[in-house]
Amino acid sequence: MLELNNISVKYGAIEAVRDASISVKTGEVVAILGANGAGKSTLLNCIAGLIHPADGSISLAGQDITTIPAHVRPALGSVLVPEGRGVFADQNVQDNLVLGAYYKKYSKAKLQEKIDSCFAMFPRLAARRHQISGTLSGGEQQMLAIARALMGEPRMLLLDEPSLGLAPIIIQDIFRSLHSLREAGLTILLVEQMANQALQLADRAYVLETGRITLSGTGPELQRDPQVRAAYLGVH
Ligand SMILES: Nc1ncnc2c1ncn2[C@@H]1O[C@H](COP(=O)(O)OP(=O)(O)OP(=O)(O)O)[C@@H](O)[C@H]1O
Ligand SMILES: [Mg+2]
Repeated sequence: MLELNNISVKYGAIEAVRDASISVKTGEVVAILGANGAGKSTLLNCIAGLIHPADGSISLAGQDITTIPAHVRPALGSVLVPEGRGVFADQNVQDNLVLGAYYKKYSKAKLQEKIDSCFAMFPRLAARRHQISGTLSGGEQQMLAIARALMGEPRMLLLDEPSLGLAPIIIQDIFRSLHSLREAGLTILLVEQMANQALQLADRAYVLETGRITLSGTGPELQRDPQVRAAYLGVH
């Protein structure tokens, strides 16, 4: 579904990502683990087209998308749920969902069906459908950001730290939703600092350290890896 070949990203003189190669197969959930500043968001933003790589190429479902603008990429199948959620704060919940389908030409009935399925997945949003999104709690905003991304029926979801700043019980809710998306066969690339939860969800994972991929393997392999246990799982 997704292939990154030798991607490097620079911010001026700073090389935030260096020579990173990643692949995600259809139906797979792949996690990227890494400390603050490792380059995780840079990598996801690059896949979403918000930043352009200095070197390397990206292909999605066999098509080279390296130079395709960000606003075109959802229609090709990849949708980003950005770090910090990026909900349209002055729009209500339902309008945020409608905006998530901007690249689709849904009929009125189909649009309503998609909204209803988001509300079925996240009942807390259903109860708040007319609430201005900026007044939602952090957890509700994260649910909305995920639901909005699902509105266009993406082939692949790019998730940037869905657990960021949320209480443990809400994180559990979010991960429960991600498990059900996985069961439904959705392809997911997940950036997370909650390594335990991420590795339980993921088929495979990569470790990113100061812009380089230093380790990769299946979820269980990385859960057993002494380096990963010490650095990311807090187990010594
Ligand atoms: N717009 C920018 N201009 C200059 N440097 C940037 C920019 N965005 C990110 N960086 C730098 O690139 C590096 C990687 O940042 P990035 O946000 O990708 O890390 P991250 O792994 O997502 O971190 P976090 O876990 O804190 O979200 C950092 O050193 C950061 O300071
Ligand atoms: Mg980040």
